[in-house]
Amino acid sequence: MSLYDVVRPALFALPAETAHGVGTSLLRATQGTPVERVACERLRVDDARLATTAFGQSFPNPVGVAAGFDKNAELPGMLAALGFGHVEVGGVTAERQPGNPKPRMFRLREDRAIVNRMGFNNHGADVVGNRLSRAALPGVPVGLNIGKSKVTPLDEAPDDYRYTFERCGEWVDYSVVNVSSPNTPGLRELQHRDALEAILGTLLDAGARPLLVKLSPDLPEAAVEEALAVVDDLALDGVIATNTTTSRPASLRSPEQAERGGLSGKPIEHTATGFVKFVARRTDVPVVGVGGVSDADGAYAKIRAGADVVQLYTALVYEGPTVARDINRGLLERLESDGFDHVSEAVGVDL
Ligand SMILES: Cc1cc2nc3c(=O)[nH]c(=O)nc-3n(C[C@H](O)[C@H](O)[C@H](O)COP(=O)(O)O)c2cc1C
Repeated sequence: MSLYDVVRPALFALPAETAHGVGTSLLRATQGTPVERVACERLRVDDARLATTAFGQSFPNPVGVAAGFDKNAELPGMLAALGFGHVEVGGVTAERQPGNPKPRMFRLREDRAIVNRMGFNNHGADVVGNRLSRAALPGVPVGLNIGKSKVTPLDEAPDDYRYTFERCGEWVDYSVVNVSSPNTPGLRELQHRDALEAILGTLLDAGARPLLVKLSPDLPEAAVEEALAVVDDLALDGVIATNTTTSRPASLRSPEQAERGGLSGKPIEHTATGFVKFVARRTDVPVVGVGGVSDADGAYAKIRAGADVVQLYTALVYEGPTVARDINRGLLERLESDGFDHVSEAVGVDL
């Protein structure tokens, strides 16, 4: 029984967003204190077999924090101390915004899932940029997930994304164009060729490298092909597959599945892994695999499907703060039993 097994019932007695606030307050309060060093010693798995590179970045291990957990870039140091090999902060938008009315985050406990319709609540690019410029950033890559401000019309999206990059990009190791969150009206239309080309082209002109795009699992196959053609044409640095889904698999049991928003966690795991495979088959760019990763088997399946690194969010809620350590330890066991000397040898072996 872990400490989190004791703490979880108390957290789960609170509304999901309140519990998230409690968890992140604790992480903020301990960041930069001796607790961070102790966490580091206990939770970081230092092993050369897990260290990997992708889009010019060196990752100490392939397990990262997905966007949305640290929307305002307040916790990268502590998240790295929990053993994560990279941290993607954001989604940050040009404008500071409150997001949708609460409640807007729901646990589907029986399904080990979350539905959220946060709507890019964040402090905005000016505040986050200032924070990043002053922060002692951890020794792991930090990515910037950029979203579109709700008030900005779709045809002005390129400048909106550019503004955020210009305020925050200097302090991070890679940037991500997020055109796949289901909670900003019209956002996902920006995944179509012309709109995507305009946004990515504007960011590349502004010097955004490495630049990745994050796609939705709800895109029809032809639209994914179109987006990947833009990725190839612009020689983008990578694809993140995938964001949350508005679909509701028939297997769901929790009543909260009826809430509007994007579904994440265990029920999207296999679809997301299939999406990783699809992307990896069609492009040569690195793939970041995300969606339902909660244990070493799930992380390993995404890596074997072609993901250079993986990310998770929902598993932090259900498995707790030791999840990165547990996955990294399990990955080492799986590499060993499959006869791989290094995690990079496992990337794409199932393709
Ligand atoms: C509450 C919440 C907020 C999120 N916010 C963002 C966001 O701002 N930008 C983004 O690209 N993805 C966001 N995501 C999606 C995650 O980054 C990830 O793609 C998705 O949750 C699937 O991974 P998981 O099953 O490990 O949670 C959010 C997810 C959750 C649960």
